[in-house]
Amino acid sequence: MPETRLDIQIEAPGLPEGSEALMQRVARSAARIEGVERVTAGVRVVDDVAIHALNKQERGVDRPTDVLSFPTVNYRRGTARDNEKLVAREYDPDTGLRYLGDIVISVDRAKEQALEYGHSLAREIGFLTVHAMLHLFGYDHMTDEERTLMRGMEERIMHDVSLDREGGALSDQELFDRAAAMLDMAYAPYSNYRVGAAILTEDGRVFTGCNVENASYGGTICAERTAAVKAVSEGARRFRAIAIAGERGPAWPCGLCRQVLREFGQDMRVIVGTKGQAFEVTTLNELLPHGFGPEDLGK
Ligand code: THU
Repeated sequence: MPETRLDIQIEAPGLPEGSEALMQRVARSAARIEGVERVTAGVRVVDDVAIHALNKQERGVDRPTDVLSFPTVNYRRGTARDNEKLVAREYDPDTGLRYLGDIVISVDRAKEQALEYGHSLAREIGFLTVHAMLHLFGYDHMTDEERTLMRGMEERIMHDVSLDREGGALSDQELFDRAAAMLDMAYAPYSNYRVGAAILTEDGRVFTGCNVENASYGGTICAERTAAVKAVSEGARRFRAIAIAGERGPAWPCGLCRQVLREFGQDMRVIVGTKGQAFEVTTLNELLPHGFGPEDLGK
């Protein structure tokens, strides 16, 4: 059974890594929450010049905009879930999915809005995809009633894809608690020194880790690197914060971990403490001044 997916075309540079995977997650989440699955839509990511031209041509509005949606279904009443028959007419035998229409996103406007709201570009791209998918499902924001319904759906989907916890919504205390909870998972039969870590990524996800020791001692992996590798292997590339919890005292990250973390952000917050006690907050820059990073290789 084919699963909901977007046909994404990137026509302008500047999208953060992992954006396409994020947009696919948003589409699947929106479809599941609407209760109308196995759908598809086209997405074009363009610049302000292109979206301005399209906005003028299609809507007679002579300025750029953040996102445009072009639904195939003309929902007379309600949304896709109330109009399964109309949705069924859009069945495309080639993909086995129902084609709901097209979305156009301006990466330039998304960048400006991310700055304005003080959240990441990934979050803004995620939100614009949520908003546009809902238009394709028949949601709108003309009347107060429609707007309330659409906002409610936006919040549910943003929560479902873990994009609602960004911008300080996840406190240092919460991240530290997630790290401390990982102490139970630590595999430390040799040192008996357990460590837990939790990383908050730029797109608002949390990845946890613990130290994993080895009978060949050099094979030991610290909690921080366990969490980092879990995050990167799930598509994350920028870390906003890492919390590290020791059992018997604060476990300040070792030199090797500082270098590994440096790859994924210079200004991430580093929250260090002992389980059940107060923690300290610093930044990676403070812990690793004059660090060597991907920029130094011209990457
Ligand atoms: N360890 C960590 O997991 N993180 C740190 O910040 C310091 C050290 C682990 C590695 C090893 O399992 C044990 O602590 C003793 O070095």
